Amino acid sequence: MTDLLPLGLLAELTHRCPLACPYCSNPVELDRRSDELDTATWLRIFDEAAELGVLQLHLSGGEPTARADIVELTRGAAQAGLYTNLITSGVGLSKQRLEALAEAGLDHVQLSWQDTDPASADKIAGLDGAHRWKHETARAVVELGLPLTINVVIHRLNIARVADMIVAAYRAGARRIEVAHTQYYGWGLANRAALLPTEDQVEAAHAAVANIRKELEPGILIDYVAPDHFSRYPKPCMNGWGRQSLNVTPRGRVLPCHAAESIRGLIFWTVHEHSLREIWNDSPAFIAFRGTEWMKEPCRSCPRKEIDFGGCRCQAFAWTGDAASADPACELSPYHAALREAVAAPRTDEIIYRRFSSPKPAPQE
Ligand code: SF4
Ligand code: FES
Repeated sequence: MTDLLPLGLLAELTHRCPLACPYCSNPVELDRRSDELDTATWLRIFDEAAELGVLQLHLSGGEPTARADIVELTRGAAQAGLYTNLITSGVGLSKQRLEALAEAGLDHVQLSWQDTDPASADKIAGLDGAHRWKHETARAVVELGLPLTINVVIHRLNIARVADMIVAAYRAGARRIEVAHTQYYGWGLANRAALLPTEDQVEAAHAAVANIRKELEPGILIDYVAPDHFSRYPKPCMNGWGRQSLNVTPRGRVLPCHAAESIRGLIFWTVHEHSLREIWNDSPAFIAFRGTEWMKEPCRSCPRKEIDFGGCRCQAFAWTGDAASADPACELSPYHAALREAVAAPRTDEIIYRRFSSPKPAPQE
């Protein structure tokens, strides 16, 4: 049992997606279409989420509009009183479908962009024509009067154009841009040698973002999430495990964070057996790292433990095999030197695309 209340629910409606981005936050073992929850179950989850106190629903994937029932799901979520945010690649999304979503009560669209350079954008997405389609979707969203956030994941292949992407989002009519560096677990970890920028690139990007902020804010809100591989301390991942949000996978497992399935040994309850309230309050996976009691040294006696909550459990597990250890992005972690070695390691141009058919990346040694 906990006094905490979740603010947000990330509904991964499907892992199907027309794109194949090599940093995808979906697990390396993707859920198949035949495993996906049906419409009635999702609608029940939305009702339970609203009753539990959730305010914001993120309709995500994969590509959520790959679901034939996306309009019905959006309508049900809006009727439950949830603020609905569609997180989309924009590929395959017609203006008519967007109109139907708006009419069903959609509140906000978050659209991913890969780059300002069309050839690079299509290469990163793993799909020819993706860049053009995304810009058409941005135009349609703005014409319909829906608030638009552009989301860009930054890495070695696009970091030089980070300021250009902010300008492009502003010109496209976005109210907000979220610039987040790649997270290195799952697919991102498998592609780390291709995607991790150099220190010089990261410093140049920080300076470029600072400059463009002076020019464009407050005309557009710029959320810039700095990369933790280049910092002294980790980020407060998820704002603390099991503190603010839930994630429901296509097959109905409920996770404290989107990458939690990468931590071996955690037990996830599902919506088939338990209500969201039971899962939030009592499921073993949520309880495992909630609060600070689970911490070991150096976190246990650290004055920052209520600030960053020991960093990211998934990154800690990926590097140390123990999700209760300090995130190696922290300079106090015994694994920090190894993480810094990865920053200095040679890069490759070879990319493993996120596809159902891709060879599964090997776990970190
Ligand atoms: Fe954060 Fe733990 Fe490092 Fe302290 S020791 S800064 S709590 S990761
Ligand atoms: Fe899972 Fe950070 S991504 S806790």
